[in-house]
Amino acid sequence: MADIFDKCVRFARESPIASGQDRTIAEGVLYRRSPLKNAGPWIEADGRRLLQFSTNDYLGLADHPNIRKAAEATVAQVSISSPMGARPLTGTTDLHLELERQIADFKRTEASLIFANGAFAMMGAVAALAGPRDLILLDRHAHASLVCGAKISGAKMRYFRHNDMEHLDAVLQENPPTQAKMVVVDGVYSMQGDIAPLRELADLCEKHGARLIVDDAHGTGVCGAHGRGTGEMLGVEDRIDLHLGTFSKAMATMGGFAAGEAGVINFLKFCAPTILFTKAMPAAVAAATLEALALLRTADDRRKSLWANRKHLQDGLRQRGFDIGHTATPITPIQGNGCDAVYLGHALYEKHNIWASAVLYPAVPIGTSILRVIPTANHTAADVDYLLNSLSAVEREVAQQRSEADAERACRPN
Ligand SMILES: Cc1ncc(COP(=O)(O)O)c(C=O)c1O
Repeated sequence: MADIFDKCVRFARESPIASGQDRTIAEGVLYRRSPLKNAGPWIEADGRRLLQFSTNDYLGLADHPNIRKAAEATVAQVSISSPMGARPLTGTTDLHLELERQIADFKRTEASLIFANGAFAMMGAVAALAGPRDLILLDRHAHASLVCGAKISGAKMRYFRHNDMEHLDAVLQENPPTQAKMVVVDGVYSMQGDIAPLRELADLCEKHGARLIVDDAHGTGVCGAHGRGTGEMLGVEDRIDLHLGTFSKAMATMGGFAAGEAGVINFLKFCAPTILFTKAMPAAVAAATLEALALLRTADDRRKSLWANRKHLQDGLRQRGFDIGHTATPITPIQGNGCDAVYLGHALYEKHNIWASAVLYPAVPIGTSILRVIPTANHTAADVDYLLNSLSAVEREVAQQRSEADAERACRPN
């Protein structure tokens, strides 16, 4: 008889991620125990002082006293559990409503809706807006939460090649104007750090009568002169039909939002499954996020430091011959084959006290890996130099180990 759990046994035996020694190291690196306080730049773990280069605390707000105080005051007043219940039942407080007003104002939209986490915002919005008769066109690299939403919706799904407008145009062309459709993209692609060509996307959506939905999880707070995101950066904010975002990155709290026309937000309020069937964002998180948003809106200096650190790091890596792809944001993916990134991350941690995370399949194509390095506003130029020098050293060590292992394999009798 077939057992649906068989795949778990197969996974343990023949993991698609890595095998043998690679696998032991990969598991150690991927699920390395983190200290409670891990945003960095400097953290303490295993009795050591480590330099953190792997969080999305872009603006360095994770440990900001205003955010912490807002959360502490709310927990002291109403505990962590409040409000008990889902948003439409008993889960909407003044703090939730105020945060929704503030987000709509920040994103320059008529209304917004907040979700208990970012992935719920992406999943719930896409799942609610499309149905079995509709068509969703997704960039091949769209975030997994958008893909999940599309699958839940039951809509027809088509992928277009990453950032390839000719391909998208051709796919749109195949569908009659009577077919209701939406194009779903990330503003900033979370693994490769490149940006969606939003102007061209908006033009194509207009041409073919499709709605444009943008998940700007990594753009919000980071991109644009005022941190309003990739839409602001590319001058097309008002051409995006629905803005999706998360509070877990530049705002350093938790939760997500959808922002757009009042009618659409009202629809999501009553139809998004991830609003209806899950507990509301805790009030303490809403209070903290209101503080984070206020800080983000006046964080020009922090944004400047972030982008200066990004330039310093990425120029340095390119000069040293590292392949970092087409990133245009602080996300810095050092490209590798096989498990290269795992070995680099392991050596950085063990020998140079640096925490830099390796990313493997399914977040990147099978057979590849990236070491995903992210500078924040709080890193210093000296921190970045230390990382650059350490990376050059470990790259040499890892290359040496690899050639010794290859030589040993070649000498082994068959
Ligand atoms: C592009 C993108 N969308 C959505 C999410 C989900 O956000 P959250 O972690 O806040 O649920 C992430 C986070 O990894 C992301 O990178």
